[in-house]
Amino acid sequence: MNRIVAQAPSNIAIIKYMGKVDSQKNLPANPSLSMTLNRLRTEVELNWVPGGEKALQVQWIHDAVVAGFRSPSLSDAGIAKVSRHIERVFEELPVLLRSLGLSPSIPRGGILEIRSANTFPEAAGIASSASSFAALTLAAAAVLCRESLVSFLKAFEQDVRLKQSLSGISRQGSGSSCRSFDGPWVKWEGDQAYPVTPSLRMPELSDLVVLVGKGAKEVSSSEAHQRVLSSPLWRGRVERASRRVQDAEEAIALGEWKSLVQWAWQDFWEMHSLFHTAQKNFTYWLPESVAILKWIQPFVEKGECLVTMDAGPHVHILVSQERSAYWLHKIRDTFPGLEILEDTQGKGASLCLN
Ligand code: DP6
Repeated sequence: MNRIVAQAPSNIAIIKYMGKVDSQKNLPANPSLSMTLNRLRTEVELNWVPGGEKALQVQWIHDAVVAGFRSPSLSDAGIAKVSRHIERVFEELPVLLRSLGLSPSIPRGGILEIRSANTFPEAAGIASSASSFAALTLAAAAVLCRESLVSFLKAFEQDVRLKQSLSGISRQGSGSSCRSFDGPWVKWEGDQAYPVTPSLRMPELSDLVVLVGKGAKEVSSSEAHQRVLSSPLWRGRVERASRRVQDAEEAIALGEWKSLVQWAWQDFWEMHSLFHTAQKNFTYWLPESVAILKWIQPFVEKGECLVTMDAGPHVHILVSQERSAYWLHKIRDTFPGLEILEDTQGKGASLCLN
């Protein structure tokens, strides 16, 4: 089969990845912990059209529709990054695939068409690199195993080595994508990302993403990773974040929701404080972001919702799925002009076989 479709969800970090020790390989300065989402995801279709003697050409198909969603526009630099990533998968994965008894074969010659689309509006400015690189990595791996897809799928679902290896390769495309292969809770430390088992007492969660502003980001997250190192608050950040990851992991394992709410609140304020105090300081906050934070703080203090922000102006409000409709109304009543995306916790990347 020469046509492969894979999907991967985005994830929202509870304790943030910010700062790298190796920016070539996207090795993080500190461990991080996230919740995998479900509907906010990327669908990638790879189609190999064999033919010709020339080397394989990777072709990004503009304006494609995948699973009913239209592909975002991508710059030439973005397309080059995607091509490099596919090469990376083709170079790094075959050894492991062979050791798992699979028979990878790298497509030689012809054209590899890429169609990729996000299920969330492009203008929303939600980070899509996590879901995009995770879906792309899985799809490219499946292209290698296109003659034995069923065995590949079995290994993907049952052998942690394959998932870990895909996650590690994906990380080199975009760091946070390594947390999108499992779910709902994933910890990433060094070159490994693995699932964290929650207590049965942990509620099933929804993520209500309150969208604030729709313009492109002035500072990319890759640049933010560099600039934070110049903040005087960087000192001690790795120790504090590492400690919080341990505490958050424990809170998830014991079902201590209120503690988790507290660690999440502390950590995103700290990350944004690093942005605000970098030598060339910057902010993602818009007036509406601040208004939401002021309004929500008392509820966070009572442990009614978990709030966090990534490298952007949007505010993520995590609540139990049972209370999601109640919170949706409450936020809409208070901020009637703002759009809200609603998602739930999810299980991670998967292959669509049909
Ligand atoms: C603020 O994964 O986008 O969302 O590795 O340079 O691609 P690169 O960075 P990226 O960084 C995301 C940072 C964050 C926090 C997080 O997701 O942990």
